[in-house]
Amino acid sequence: MQQPPVRKAVFPVAGLGTRFLPATKASPKEMLPVVDKPLIQYAVEEAYAAGIRHMIFVTGRSKRAIEDHFDTAYELESELEAAGKQELLALVRSVQPDDMDCAYVRQPRSLGLGHAVLCAEALVGHEPFAVLLADDLMMGPPGDTPVLAQMAQAFRQQGRSLLAVQEVPQDQVRRYGIVAGEPAGGPLLRIQRIVEKPAPENAPSRMGVAGRYILTPAIFEQIRQQPKGAGGEIQLTDAIARLMEHEAVYAYQYAGKRYDCGSKEGFLEATVELALQHPEVGASFREYLKTLSL
Ligand code: UTP
Repeated sequence: MQQPPVRKAVFPVAGLGTRFLPATKASPKEMLPVVDKPLIQYAVEEAYAAGIRHMIFVTGRSKRAIEDHFDTAYELESELEAAGKQELLALVRSVQPDDMDCAYVRQPRSLGLGHAVLCAEALVGHEPFAVLLADDLMMGPPGDTPVLAQMAQAFRQQGRSLLAVQEVPQDQVRRYGIVAGEPAGGPLLRIQRIVEKPAPENAPSRMGVAGRYILTPAIFEQIRQQPKGAGGEIQLTDAIARLMEHEAVYAYQYAGKRYDCGSKEGFLEATVELALQHPEVGASFREYLKTLSL
């Protein structure tokens, strides 16, 4: 039986972004632009492409720019209209389509990703929801289904919590939540173990969790009961491990590419690769790169 579609997405954007200081001192990491769009807009567009229309942002201090970005920019719009710049006007308006709504809730202190997700409980209610970490910039295969849409389709088939995973190099497992499980058909694995940032010798596999989840509302109760874990934070991974004691949780081996834009290297890789694909600057940027003696 087909499950109802996922209608809501949660964007936890209340982290401190310490790996990107000083850029993140007064402005949110999620507003860093890759070529010409902030990271958060890529994530919102991915959720929209998966059929989601209710966007819930868990914000913290210095995050006002995100609310402003998804609000109407009256002055800018009327100036562009008066100047007859219709294309730019359409571009500005496209950031918030008419059928999309945005809600905001504050996480008063950075107590961890699990805690940030719990802050969204009242806005999510009792229904499955997606979680997107905007600092993981996800690109579906060229011309093909974006990553969250792939997962939303799988969710409609089986109705269980899903975590996006992809194999990561052995020397990088300590940066990820790592899952181990048994094949459950196609891109699915039924998860048997999940550990947050293991040492390579303790990692149960090389399947690393990327920042895309579809969770059943049962997760909220598990987060509530979750004591603080690594780094004194309430970890989403630990709550997912507890959820697995009550219901099946699956890993979804997505097709596509992930850029860790919370790190400087990942951000630079995304910038170069997306610039090369960009319709306006791609060709000239490629020529420019060829002139560099590397
Ligand atoms: P990160 O682990 O990347 O932490 O959080 P961070 O604080 O953003 O960045 P660094 O490591 O200090 O550089 C993963 C996601 O969870 C959110 C972040 O905004 C990011 O999207 N998050 C994390 C919260 O919303 N609240 C928290 O308390 C912690």
